[in-house]
Amino acid sequence: MIAPAPRPFPAAGTVRPRYAAPVESDYDAMAEFHEVHMPAAWDRLRDVTTETFGDIGADGLIVDIGAGSGLGSAMVADATDAEIMAIEPNATMRAMMVARLDNAGVLDRVTVLPQPVPAALDELPVPVDGVLAAHMLGHLTDAARTRLLDWIATSLAPQRSALLTVSADAPVDGHDPVVEERTVGRHVYRVTHHTPAPGRYEGVFEVIDRRQRVVRSLRDTTPWEAVTADDVRTALDRHAVRITEPQPGVARVTRLAPRSSTTAA
Ligand SMILES: C[S@@+](CC[C@H](N)C(=O)[O-])C[C@H]1O[C@@H](n2cnc3c(N)ncnc32)[C@H](O)[C@@H]1O
Repeated sequence: MIAPAPRPFPAAGTVRPRYAAPVESDYDAMAEFHEVHMPAAWDRLRDVTTETFGDIGADGLIVDIGAGSGLGSAMVADATDAEIMAIEPNATMRAMMVARLDNAGVLDRVTVLPQPVPAALDELPVPVDGVLAAHMLGHLTDAARTRLLDWIATSLAPQRSALLTVSADAPVDGHDPVVEERTVGRHVYRVTHHTPAPGRYEGVFEVIDRRQRVVRSLRDTTPWEAVTADDVRTALDRHAVRITEPQPGVARVTRLAPRSSTTAA
């Protein structure tokens, strides 16, 4: 028997990525802070995530859009037996996601896609049984968000749902900053979220030592549009969906079952 010739390893520069991720993002720098502060937000989403997706079995598919470090995908994997497709354009966040899902023992049922929305939507099989878009709608341009919401309304299987985190209120200029702190060893990681104007976000991430000295500091001004549940309703008003707010800051979009057509005798 003739052994197959070994495949030559492509020379550097000959393998071109299928997609150059055109995402401008500070997530490389923010990844560490994201990891420190985001689990608290996900604790508040655990019940609604389980309630929305918990009955989806191993033959179901759930898409996590802007999956970040995989906190949502890990929660979905824990709550269901479903297959998951996780879209995340930032390489640092993807690395954290893969590590988290591997530690959770669920990597074999998660496919990771590096394209951003809207390009990523063309890669997905339809229909899907669930969609998660958490803490990410505000990053999208109006056109990309419209495309995503249309895709959700037309790609969900009937009576299946998407869970979207939204701004609890209409945007308020210059509202009081929101501060979160978490202890990491001898340091406190503090983030101060501020919305100086609609469509503008400023986050100041600081690491503070025991003498109250700021040992590291990072300012994030990634564009962020406050999207409310009413904005989602307006965007989807032509679609056969029901939109509810199971808790403040969460919109659930459920595709309605098609009307049964009755044939006249
Ligand atoms: C605040 S993080 C939230 C991550 C995760 N959903 C969570 O709740 O933990 C926002 C994520 O959206 C991703 N993102 C930004 N623009 C995107 C786009 N056009 N398509 C898909 N993801 C995007 C970022 O790379 C980042 O990981």
